[in-house]
Amino acid sequence: MDSIHICGGCPLHGETRIQGSKNAVLPILAAAVLVDGTVTLYNCPKIADVLCMVRLLQSVGCLVEWRAGKLTVDASHLCGGSLPEEYVTRMRSSVIMMGALLGRTGRVSISYPGGCVIGKRPINMHLEAFTRMGVVLEEEGSTLTAKTEGISGSEITLAFPSVGATENIILAAALAEGETVIRGAAREPEITALCKFLTGAGAEICTEEGGAVIRIRGVKKLHTCTYRVPSDRIVAGTYLLGCMAAGGTIRLTEADAGQLTAVLSVIQQMGGEYTCDGTGITLTAPKRPAAVPYLKTKVYPGYPTDLQSQLLAVLALAQGESVVEEAIFENRFRVVPQLIRMGAHISIEGTQAVIEGVQTIHGAAVTAEELRGGAALCIAALAADGETHIANRHFIDRGYEALERDIRRLGGRI
Ligand code: EPZ
Repeated sequence: MDSIHICGGCPLHGETRIQGSKNAVLPILAAAVLVDGTVTLYNCPKIADVLCMVRLLQSVGCLVEWRAGKLTVDASHLCGGSLPEEYVTRMRSSVIMMGALLGRTGRVSISYPGGCVIGKRPINMHLEAFTRMGVVLEEEGSTLTAKTEGISGSEITLAFPSVGATENIILAAALAEGETVIRGAAREPEITALCKFLTGAGAEICTEEGGAVIRIRGVKKLHTCTYRVPSDRIVAGTYLLGCMAAGGTIRLTEADAGQLTAVLSVIQQMGGEYTCDGTGITLTAPKRPAAVPYLKTKVYPGYPTDLQSQLLAVLALAQGESVVEEAIFENRFRVVPQLIRMGAHISIEGTQAVIEGVQTIHGAAVTAEELRGGAALCIAALAADGETHIANRHFIDRGYEALERDIRRLGGRI
């Protein structure tokens, strides 16, 4: 059944462990292609996007095994780099395989990764960087082929700190001839995780200016390594916001508060009280969240766009009017009509959502259209009076390893 049923209206009480990070492990799986040997990943989340990336790795000749909580990738014998359209169109972050395959084999062909409901998601910055690094691009219909006789280290300045472009350049530069310098790089924790993984495999990477400048000195080979995937800050933020909407007290273990400072300060602004110790975060929600007069999504370490829809579900119940501005993607308010079906009072004005908080919202039959909007509907359902049926749960399964298990552990009825 591709749907989730939640009975809301009860405060949450409970504890759950936070899974490994989707957005950290995807580029690290691509990076495994650069290693002439086997890499072992621990704490890899069993989510649809990871399974899709595993299929992509297998399609270029990697041997992948997933046993007893560890995932091993053996990229000793690659067999060429044409990525099957089926997987690339299903997951646009497949584009991250380009840098790794160019770095290791010098060629890749990929069907143009389309946009998705939250935005066009162009890859111009990725392609401009590859061209500067000595890659020749050819388009034939919707297939993009990239070739190089050898990647040469270059100076690259990003007009916008794109996460994917930063990752793709790092992957292409790891085995390049000479040094690559990225200026205006993304500073998300997922970039740090990728650099840590690659350094563990023998890459030479250092950062300056708090991560805004990344220097990669190409090496001849990368060697076998093991790595533990860090916890998923967006999953942790989702459950914290779920508690803010439904009320109660929850504890998240293996949640890194240091990666959630902007989110935790908004939670405090709404009246949440939290403590964090070495292993996790404990949050007690207020009776009713206070409104947030204005918040704008930003690149890290600002408030993350991936927790914007979930925040709307909390503010729908806040005392007063809130304004949330989406500054990263051009169409990321898709969940709003579904929240309105549950009784929320939200209007969209350009890049801003204006939310008039209401006392209660009610259960309804709603439909997820993308990953984080689907997570926002789960949050709203936990707070709503009555039962909510969320269709298209497969969107949510792309990023949440065990939503039912986690929500039950936190005291929700799902
Ligand atoms: C990553 O996407 C994440 N995905 C996204 O999480 C996240 O929302 C995003 O970073 C921002 O933090 C993964 O890590 C797999 P970007 P990415 O390149 O790399 C524009 C989730 O829910 N842009 O930083 O695609 C782009 O259109 C997903 O887990 C260009 O214009 O994000 C967007 O408006 C959703 N040209 C903005 O930059 C380019 O060449 C940010 O994109 C590249 C990007």
